[in-house]
Amino acid sequence: MRLPNNSIINCGGVGSDPDGRLAPMSAWMASNSCLFEGKSVLDIASNAGHFPLVYVDAGASFVMAVEPRKVFERLFNESIIKLSEFPNRISWIVSTVEDFTPPQCFDVVSCLGLVYHMKNGWGHLKRIVDGCGAKILILDTMLFDSHSYAIETGRINSNCVGLVEIVERPTKKLVEKKFEEFGWTGELVLENWQIGNPLRGMWLVRL
Ligand SMILES: C[S@@+](CC[C@H](N)C(=O)[O-])C[C@H]1O[C@@H](n2cnc3c(N)ncnc32)[C@H](O)[C@@H]1O
Repeated sequence: MRLPNNSIINCGGVGSDPDGRLAPMSAWMASNSCLFEGKSVLDIASNAGHFPLVYVDAGASFVMAVEPRKVFERLFNESIIKLSEFPNRISWIVSTVEDFTPPQCFDVVSCLGLVYHMKNGWGHLKRIVDGCGAKILILDTMLFDSHSYAIETGRINSNCVGLVEIVERPTKKLVEKKFEEFGWTGELVLENWQIGNPLRGMWLVRL
Protein backbone atom coordinates (compact mmCIF):
# COMPACT_ATOMS: atom_id res chain seq x y z
CA MET A 1 0.00 0.00 0.00
CA ARG A 2 1.29 3.46 -0.88
CA LEU A 3 0.54 6.74 0.80
CA PRO A 4 -2.05 8.64 -1.23
CA ASN A 5 -0.55 11.48 -3.27
CA ASN A 6 -0.11 14.71 -1.39
CA SER A 7 -0.91 13.09 1.93
CA ILE A 8 0.80 15.28 4.45
CA ILE A 9 -0.37 14.68 7.99
CA ASN A 10 0.56 17.77 9.90
CA CYS A 11 -0.67 19.43 13.07
CA GLY A 12 -2.85 21.47 10.73
CA GLY A 13 -4.55 18.25 9.60
CA VAL A 14 -4.26 16.06 6.54
CA GLY A 15 -2.91 17.89 3.48
CA SER A 16 -1.50 20.90 5.32
CA ASP A 17 2.10 21.93 4.53
CA PRO A 18 1.85 25.74 4.39
CA ASP A 19 5.59 26.42 4.58
CA GLY A 20 6.52 23.71 2.12
CA ARG A 21 8.72 22.03 4.68
CA LEU A 22 7.38 18.48 4.67
CA ALA A 23 6.97 17.73 0.96
CA PRO A 24 10.68 18.07 -0.05
CA MET A 25 11.77 16.07 3.01
CA SER A 26 9.25 13.33 2.23
CA ALA A 27 10.38 13.29 -1.41
CA TRP A 28 13.98 12.85 -0.26
CA MET A 29 12.97 9.90 1.99
CA ALA A 30 11.07 8.34 -0.93
CA SER A 31 13.97 8.67 -3.33
CA ASN A 32 16.37 7.25 -0.74
CA SER A 33 14.12 4.35 0.23
CA CYS A 34 17.13 1.98 0.20
CA LEU A 35 17.97 3.48 3.61
CA PHE A 36 14.63 2.36 5.01
CA GLU A 37 13.64 -0.81 3.15
CA GLY A 38 13.24 -3.66 5.62
CA LYS A 39 14.67 -1.47 8.40
CA SER A 40 13.38 -0.57 11.84
CA VAL A 41 13.07 3.18 12.39
CA LEU A 42 12.78 5.14 15.61
CA ASP A 43 11.17 8.54 14.94
CA ILE A 44 11.46 10.92 17.87
CA ALA A 45 9.06 13.88 18.08
CA SER A 46 6.58 12.47 15.57
CA ASN A 47 3.98 15.22 15.87
CA ALA A 48 0.86 13.90 14.07
CA GLY A 49 2.76 10.99 12.51
CA HIS A 50 3.57 12.18 9.02
CA PHE A 51 7.13 10.86 8.93
CA PRO A 52 6.35 7.46 10.51
CA LEU A 53 3.96 6.97 7.57
CA VAL A 54 6.60 8.17 5.10
CA TYR A 55 9.10 5.62 6.49
CA VAL A 56 6.58 2.78 6.23
CA ASP A 57 5.80 3.96 2.73
CA ALA A 58 9.53 3.86 1.93
CA GLY A 59 9.60 0.21 3.02
CA ALA A 60 10.45 0.29 6.73
CA SER A 61 9.46 -2.95 8.43
CA PHE A 62 8.63 -1.24 11.72
CA VAL A 63 8.49 2.32 13.02
CA MET A 64 8.31 3.41 16.63
CA ALA A 65 6.91 6.94 16.91
CA VAL A 66 7.66 8.92 20.08
CA GLU A 67 5.67 12.09 20.74
CA PRO A 68 4.83 13.62 24.12
CA ARG A 69 1.58 15.37 23.20
CA LYS A 70 -1.49 13.19 23.47
CA VAL A 71 -3.44 15.36 21.04
CA PHE A 72 -1.20 14.07 18.23
CA GLU A 73 -1.73 10.43 19.09
CA ARG A 74 -5.45 11.01 18.58
CA LEU A 75 -4.88 12.94 15.34
CA PHE A 76 -2.64 10.18 14.05
CA ASN A 77 -5.17 7.49 14.89
CA GLU A 78 -7.92 9.45 13.18
CA SER A 79 -5.77 10.04 10.09
CA ILE A 80 -4.70 6.45 9.59
CA ILE A 81 -8.09 4.91 10.11
CA LYS A 82 -8.45 4.39 6.36
CA LEU A 83 -4.87 3.25 5.77
CA SER A 84 -5.41 -0.19 7.26
CA GLU A 85 -2.01 -1.57 6.32
CA PHE A 86 -0.01 1.06 8.19
CA PRO A 87 -1.04 0.84 11.84
CA ASN A 88 0.43 -2.58 12.59
CA ARG A 89 3.83 -1.43 11.41
CA ILE A 90 3.78 1.67 13.61
CA SER A 91 3.95 1.62 17.38
CA TRP A 92 3.01 4.90 19.05
CA ILE A 93 4.60 5.94 22.35
CA VAL A 94 3.46 9.01 24.29
CA SER A 95 6.66 10.29 25.88
CA THR A 96 9.12 13.13 25.91
CA VAL A 97 12.58 12.35 24.59
CA GLU A 98 13.98 13.11 28.04
CA ASP A 99 11.88 10.30 29.54
CA PHE A 100 12.35 7.84 26.68
CA THR A 101 14.80 4.94 26.57
CA PRO A 102 14.74 2.79 23.43
CA PRO A 103 13.22 -0.58 24.39
CA GLN A 104 14.95 -2.40 21.52
CA CYS A 105 17.54 -1.96 18.75
CA PHE A 106 16.76 0.18 15.69
CA ASP A 107 18.53 0.51 12.35
CA VAL A 108 17.65 4.16 11.80
CA VAL A 109 16.84 7.08 14.10
CA SER A 110 14.90 10.04 12.75
CA CYS A 111 15.06 13.36 14.62
CA LEU A 112 13.26 16.01 12.59
CA GLY A 113 12.47 19.47 13.90
CA LEU A 114 13.32 18.64 17.50
CA VAL A 115 16.78 19.68 18.75
CA TYR A 116 15.86 23.38 18.88
CA HIS A 117 12.92 22.64 21.20
CA MET A 118 15.03 21.02 23.90
CA LYS A 119 17.53 22.22 26.46
CA ASN A 120 19.85 19.27 26.03
CA GLY A 121 18.61 17.92 22.72
CA TRP A 122 22.09 16.90 21.58
CA GLY A 123 22.81 14.94 24.77
CA HIS A 124 19.51 13.07 24.56
CA LEU A 125 19.95 12.40 20.86
CA LYS A 126 23.39 10.88 21.50
CA ARG A 127 22.02 8.79 24.41
CA ILE A 128 19.20 7.49 22.22
CA VAL A 129 21.26 6.61 19.14
CA ASP A 130 23.89 4.92 21.33
CA GLY A 131 21.18 3.11 23.28
CA CYS A 132 19.52 1.60 20.23
CA GLY A 133 22.63 0.82 18.17
CA ALA A 134 21.41 2.69 15.07
CA LYS A 135 23.81 3.14 12.16
CA ILE A 136 21.90 5.93 10.43
CA LEU A 137 20.42 9.17 11.75
CA ILE A 138 18.25 11.54 9.75
CA LEU A 139 18.50 14.95 11.39
CA ASP A 140 16.61 18.10 10.46
CA THR A 141 16.93 21.38 12.31
CA MET A 142 16.34 25.08 11.92
CA LEU A 143 19.62 26.97 11.70
CA PHE A 144 20.46 30.47 12.91
CA ASP A 145 23.20 33.03 12.25
CA SER A 146 24.53 32.88 15.78
CA HIS A 147 24.19 30.24 18.45
CA SER A 148 22.18 30.96 21.60
CA TYR A 149 19.96 29.39 24.21
CA ALA A 150 16.67 30.85 25.40
CA ILE A 151 16.28 31.54 29.09
CA GLU A 152 15.06 28.72 31.30
CA THR A 153 11.81 27.26 30.02
CA GLY A 154 9.47 24.56 31.26
CA ARG A 155 9.52 21.05 29.82
CA ILE A 156 6.85 20.02 27.35
CA ASN A 157 4.11 17.83 28.78
CA SER A 158 1.47 15.55 27.34
CA ASN A 159 -1.34 18.10 27.66
CA CYS A 160 0.47 20.91 25.84
CA VAL A 161 -1.46 21.96 22.74
CA GLY A 162 0.01 25.27 21.54
CA LEU A 163 3.19 26.08 19.66
CA VAL A 164 6.37 24.76 21.21
CA GLU A 165 9.09 27.22 22.16
CA ILE A 166 12.47 27.42 20.53
CA VAL A 167 14.97 26.72 23.29
CA GLU A 168 18.25 26.46 21.39
CA ARG A 169 19.22 28.31 18.22
CA PRO A 170 21.83 26.14 16.52
CA THR A 171 24.10 27.31 13.72
CA LYS A 172 25.31 25.09 10.89
CA LYS A 173 28.76 25.26 12.48
CA LEU A 174 27.41 24.03 15.80
CA VAL A 175 25.72 21.05 14.13
CA GLU A 176 28.98 20.14 12.39
CA LYS A 177 30.86 20.55 15.68
CA LYS A 178 28.44 18.16 17.39
CA PHE A 179 28.95 15.58 14.63
CA GLU A 180 32.70 15.87 15.08
CA GLU A 181 32.45 15.63 18.87
CA PHE A 182 30.28 12.50 18.62
CA GLY A 183 32.36 10.90 15.82
CA TRP A 184 29.44 11.03 13.35
CA THR A 185 29.74 11.68 9.63
CA GLY A 186 27.06 14.01 8.35
CA GLU A 187 26.09 14.71 4.77
CA LEU A 188 23.90 17.76 4.25
CA VAL A 189 21.14 16.49 1.94
CA LEU A 190 18.65 19.40 2.03
CA GLU A 191 19.36 23.03 2.75
CA ASN A 192 17.09 26.07 3.15
CA TRP A 193 14.10 24.62 1.30
CA GLN A 194 11.39 25.98 3.56
CA ILE A 195 9.33 28.84 2.11
CA GLY A 196 9.95 32.25 3.72
CA ASN A 197 11.48 30.85 6.84
CA PRO A 198 14.76 30.61 8.71
CA LEU A 199 17.72 28.65 7.50
CA ARG A 200 17.33 24.92 7.81
CA GLY A 201 19.40 21.78 7.21
CA MET A 202 18.65 18.09 6.87
CA TRP A 203 21.54 15.69 7.27
CA LEU A 204 22.03 12.03 6.54
CA VAL A 205 24.34 10.98 9.36
CA ARG A 206 26.42 7.78 9.50
CA LEU A 207 26.90 6.82 13.14
C1 LIG B 1 8.55 21.18 14.70
S1 LIG B 1 7.62 19.79 15.27
C2 LIG B 1 8.41 18.52 14.29
C3 LIG B 1 7.52 17.35 14.10
C4 LIG B 1 7.99 16.31 13.09
N1 LIG B 1 9.11 15.56 13.56
C5 LIG B 1 8.30 16.96 11.78
O1 LIG B 1 9.47 16.98 11.39
O2 LIG B 1 7.38 17.46 11.14
C6 LIG B 1 8.29 19.53 16.88
C7 LIG B 1 7.73 18.35 17.63
O3 LIG B 1 8.57 18.10 18.77
C8 LIG B 1 7.75 17.72 19.84
N2 LIG B 1 8.53 17.94 21.06
C9 LIG B 1 8.82 19.11 21.66
N3 LIG B 1 9.57 18.90 22.76
C10 LIG B 1 9.76 17.57 22.84
C11 LIG B 1 10.45 16.73 23.76
N4 LIG B 1 11.06 17.23 24.80
N5 LIG B 1 10.44 15.40 23.53
C12 LIG B 1 9.81 14.89 22.43
N6 LIG B 1 9.13 15.64 21.54
C13 LIG B 1 9.11 16.95 21.74
C14 LIG B 1 6.53 18.59 19.70
O4 LIG B 1 5.44 18.08 20.43
C15 LIG B 1 6.33 18.56 18.19
O5 LIG B 1 5.50 17.51 17.81
